[in-house]
Amino acid sequence: MTKQRMNAETRAIVAKLGTFARRSLPNAHTMPKEVYTSQAFHDLERERVFGREWLCAGRAESLPKAGDYLTYRIGHQPIIVIRQKDGSLKAFSNVCRHRMMKLLEGEGSCRRIVCPYHAWTYDIDGTLVAAKHMERTNKFTMDEIRLPEVRCEIWHGWIYVTLNSRIASPAKKLAKLDKVIADYGAGDYVEVDRQDHVWKTNWKLLTENFMEGYHLPVTHRKTVGAYFPVNDTQFSERPADPSFTFQWFTKTEEAPVGTAHPKNTRLQGDMRRTSVLGSVYPCHMFVLAPDHLWYLSLQPLSAGEVQIRYGLAFAPEVMAEAKKLKARFKEAKAFLDATNEEDRGVVEGLYEGVQSPLAEPGPLSWLEKENLDFTRYLLRRMTK
Ligand code: FES
Ligand SMILES: [Fe+2]
Repeated sequence: MTKQRMNAETRAIVAKLGTFARRSLPNAHTMPKEVYTSQAFHDLERERVFGREWLCAGRAESLPKAGDYLTYRIGHQPIIVIRQKDGSLKAFSNVCRHRMMKLLEGEGSCRRIVCPYHAWTYDIDGTLVAAKHMERTNKFTMDEIRLPEVRCEIWHGWIYVTLNSRIASPAKKLAKLDKVIADYGAGDYVEVDRQDHVWKTNWKLLTENFMEGYHLPVTHRKTVGAYFPVNDTQFSERPADPSFTFQWFTKTEEAPVGTAHPKNTRLQGDMRRTSVLGSVYPCHMFVLAPDHLWYLSLQPLSAGEVQIRYGLAFAPEVMAEAKKLKARFKEAKAFLDATNEEDRGVVEGLYEGVQSPLAEPGPLSWLEKENLDFTRYLLRRMTK
């Protein structure tokens, strides 16, 4: 990937961000407005953040059979993630080697990948296996043509992809977070719903919104906020990690969802009603509860638009209760859709706010510690 230089505008924004990042939590503020609104800053983020990190494309168990695929995008690079005949998952550039047409859309299952333009045909391992009317073309050797492979790894069931050939694996980068979530057994959860939407906001307003519990009793008073005592928020004791942040929430006894199923033997004591809210920088966020998980993955389209993918998965013992599953799914999906709609309202409102001439970044609460961690993360990425 070609390296962009900072221009005068991005240099000034990064310098201002540096001032904010160096403050301690009692003196911290929301990030400068331009960080959210500048298209030039956004273009640089595309390279320095999204072009370098592991990004979450979905859940591995949603592609059980050879040929099952989903599509995703890393910046301007369309990606296919596809199950192989040997059971592994691979990711490829979703762009034809002929005239560079985008190959697959959405998700599905296929025996071969056929380009919709002139029908060049690829095996699911990315090799070109058919291309008509190419016999008069010099040096056309079909066996040498294949879709470029993109790094793809699974971490607790989540599919991670990256364009960075040098970055350490998610298992290594997120080893400390592994310990926090290991007992949940998230790799065995089964995705039951996945949706893509476009929201009119800057992606960071959504990331920050997800990280802090301060808004839960207010924005989400009709849904998730009712069962989270925010004063009990526990942050990690350790100093901020460069790759992720997390906090725990222990729900009240009467919470209708988010507590362990009686057959769950993995979690003990208070952990049976405790959820982990994890944010893997820059844009994979999840709520991992004893009975379900949901996650968000963000793909910015511009400074003011973000594509979000969100998914819901159930723990295996919940999946095993076939009779109750339909009702549980309906209830969990309604709950999640309502929660997301509440968040859409605030993050779109925030984007209007940060563009207004009279707006100024205000001071943070102790409950917004992770927002300061994120400010520091962004500074590190934008200056390296
Ligand atoms: S662009 Fe794909 S076959 Fe022509
Ligand atoms: Fe929220």
